[in-house]
Amino acid sequence: MTGQDAATADDKPRTPRRLRYYGANDLATFHLAVRAVEILEQFDASLTTYEVGDILDLHNALGYAADGTFPRAVTPEQRTVYQSWGAGKYDPRFNLDKKNMPVVIAPAFGLRQVKREIYTGDDTISYWNAYVAITQMHGHGHFADPRIGVNVNNPPDQVSSKLAALRAYQFSLETPKARAGTFDAAAASRGRAVFIGVAKCSSCHTGSALTDVNEGVLHTPAEVGQDAAYAQRSGTKKYRTTPLRGLSNPPQLKGPYFHDGKAKTLDEVVDHYVKLKGLQLTARQKADLIEYLKSL
Ligand code: HEC
Repeated sequence: MTGQDAATADDKPRTPRRLRYYGANDLATFHLAVRAVEILEQFDASLTTYEVGDILDLHNALGYAADGTFPRAVTPEQRTVYQSWGAGKYDPRFNLDKKNMPVVIAPAFGLRQVKREIYTGDDTISYWNAYVAITQMHGHGHFADPRIGVNVNNPPDQVSSKLAALRAYQFSLETPKARAGTFDAAAASRGRAVFIGVAKCSSCHTGSALTDVNEGVLHTPAEVGQDAAYAQRSGTKKYRTTPLRGLSNPPQLKGPYFHDGKAKTLDEVVDHYVKLKGLQLTARQKADLIEYLKSL
């Protein structure tokens, strides 16, 4: 749905007051957006229709009709799929190719030194920000990538000019340090030697960001024992070695791991590689390796 559809589908006065009415009943997040409008209004009574319209577009994109109850842009089937994903997962291709394969929403921090974004290493962070803004959030702008057969043009372009500032913000987000007491420091330092040595993790998790994507390397699904289906929907058809940071800092950070969340714990991550690569690790080496991952 384009912004213009949204504007004509709704009745005239597009006022914050009306938004308040049907936002509050339905959706906690939308309610927050409406609160933001209310607060803004206190500072600037001349809040433009354009800004209000943006929120209406969001509302419509989320699938609520003007009375705030009935799904309009989203069919009941789509709605069932959206609701099945659960917290922390999202499928950024579903609305384009109709396949349902949600991935774990990756942390936004610690990306300053990472050259390519997303699990499949499609391009830079600004490529992905534009993709999400235009194809997912229905922002006004132009996104085209022939590799995935996507060409969405919704003028005027109001996305490009925001990308540099958004990237600067994301790059300012530091990885939270592992808290003392949540891992065993002596074991972690032994585990680092396992990571580099016998377990050969550092053949792919290289450099200070612990990813070979900075050297331009991507991996076939078979090489890393991952399901090929999600990669098939990407520009590269491969997986990027995930930069390892902030892996375990409970209660906020506690997995699951890999693009599809297949490994629920760091034990399961290590078991995955033991099986895939036929690694011979003692119980102690395995435990040490896990402590190292927790310390990152
Ligand atoms: C052949 C290259 C390669 C090797 C060797 C390798 N990895 Fe990975 N690693 C990857 C790729 C690619 C991914 C992303 C897979 C995905 O998302 O499905 C990944 C993902 C991970 C993740 C998930 C991070 C997250 O935030 O979801 C962890 C943890 C990890 N690897 C740890 C290890 C450990 C420990 C070893 C050594 C036992 C290892 N890796 C060996 C390529 C490799």
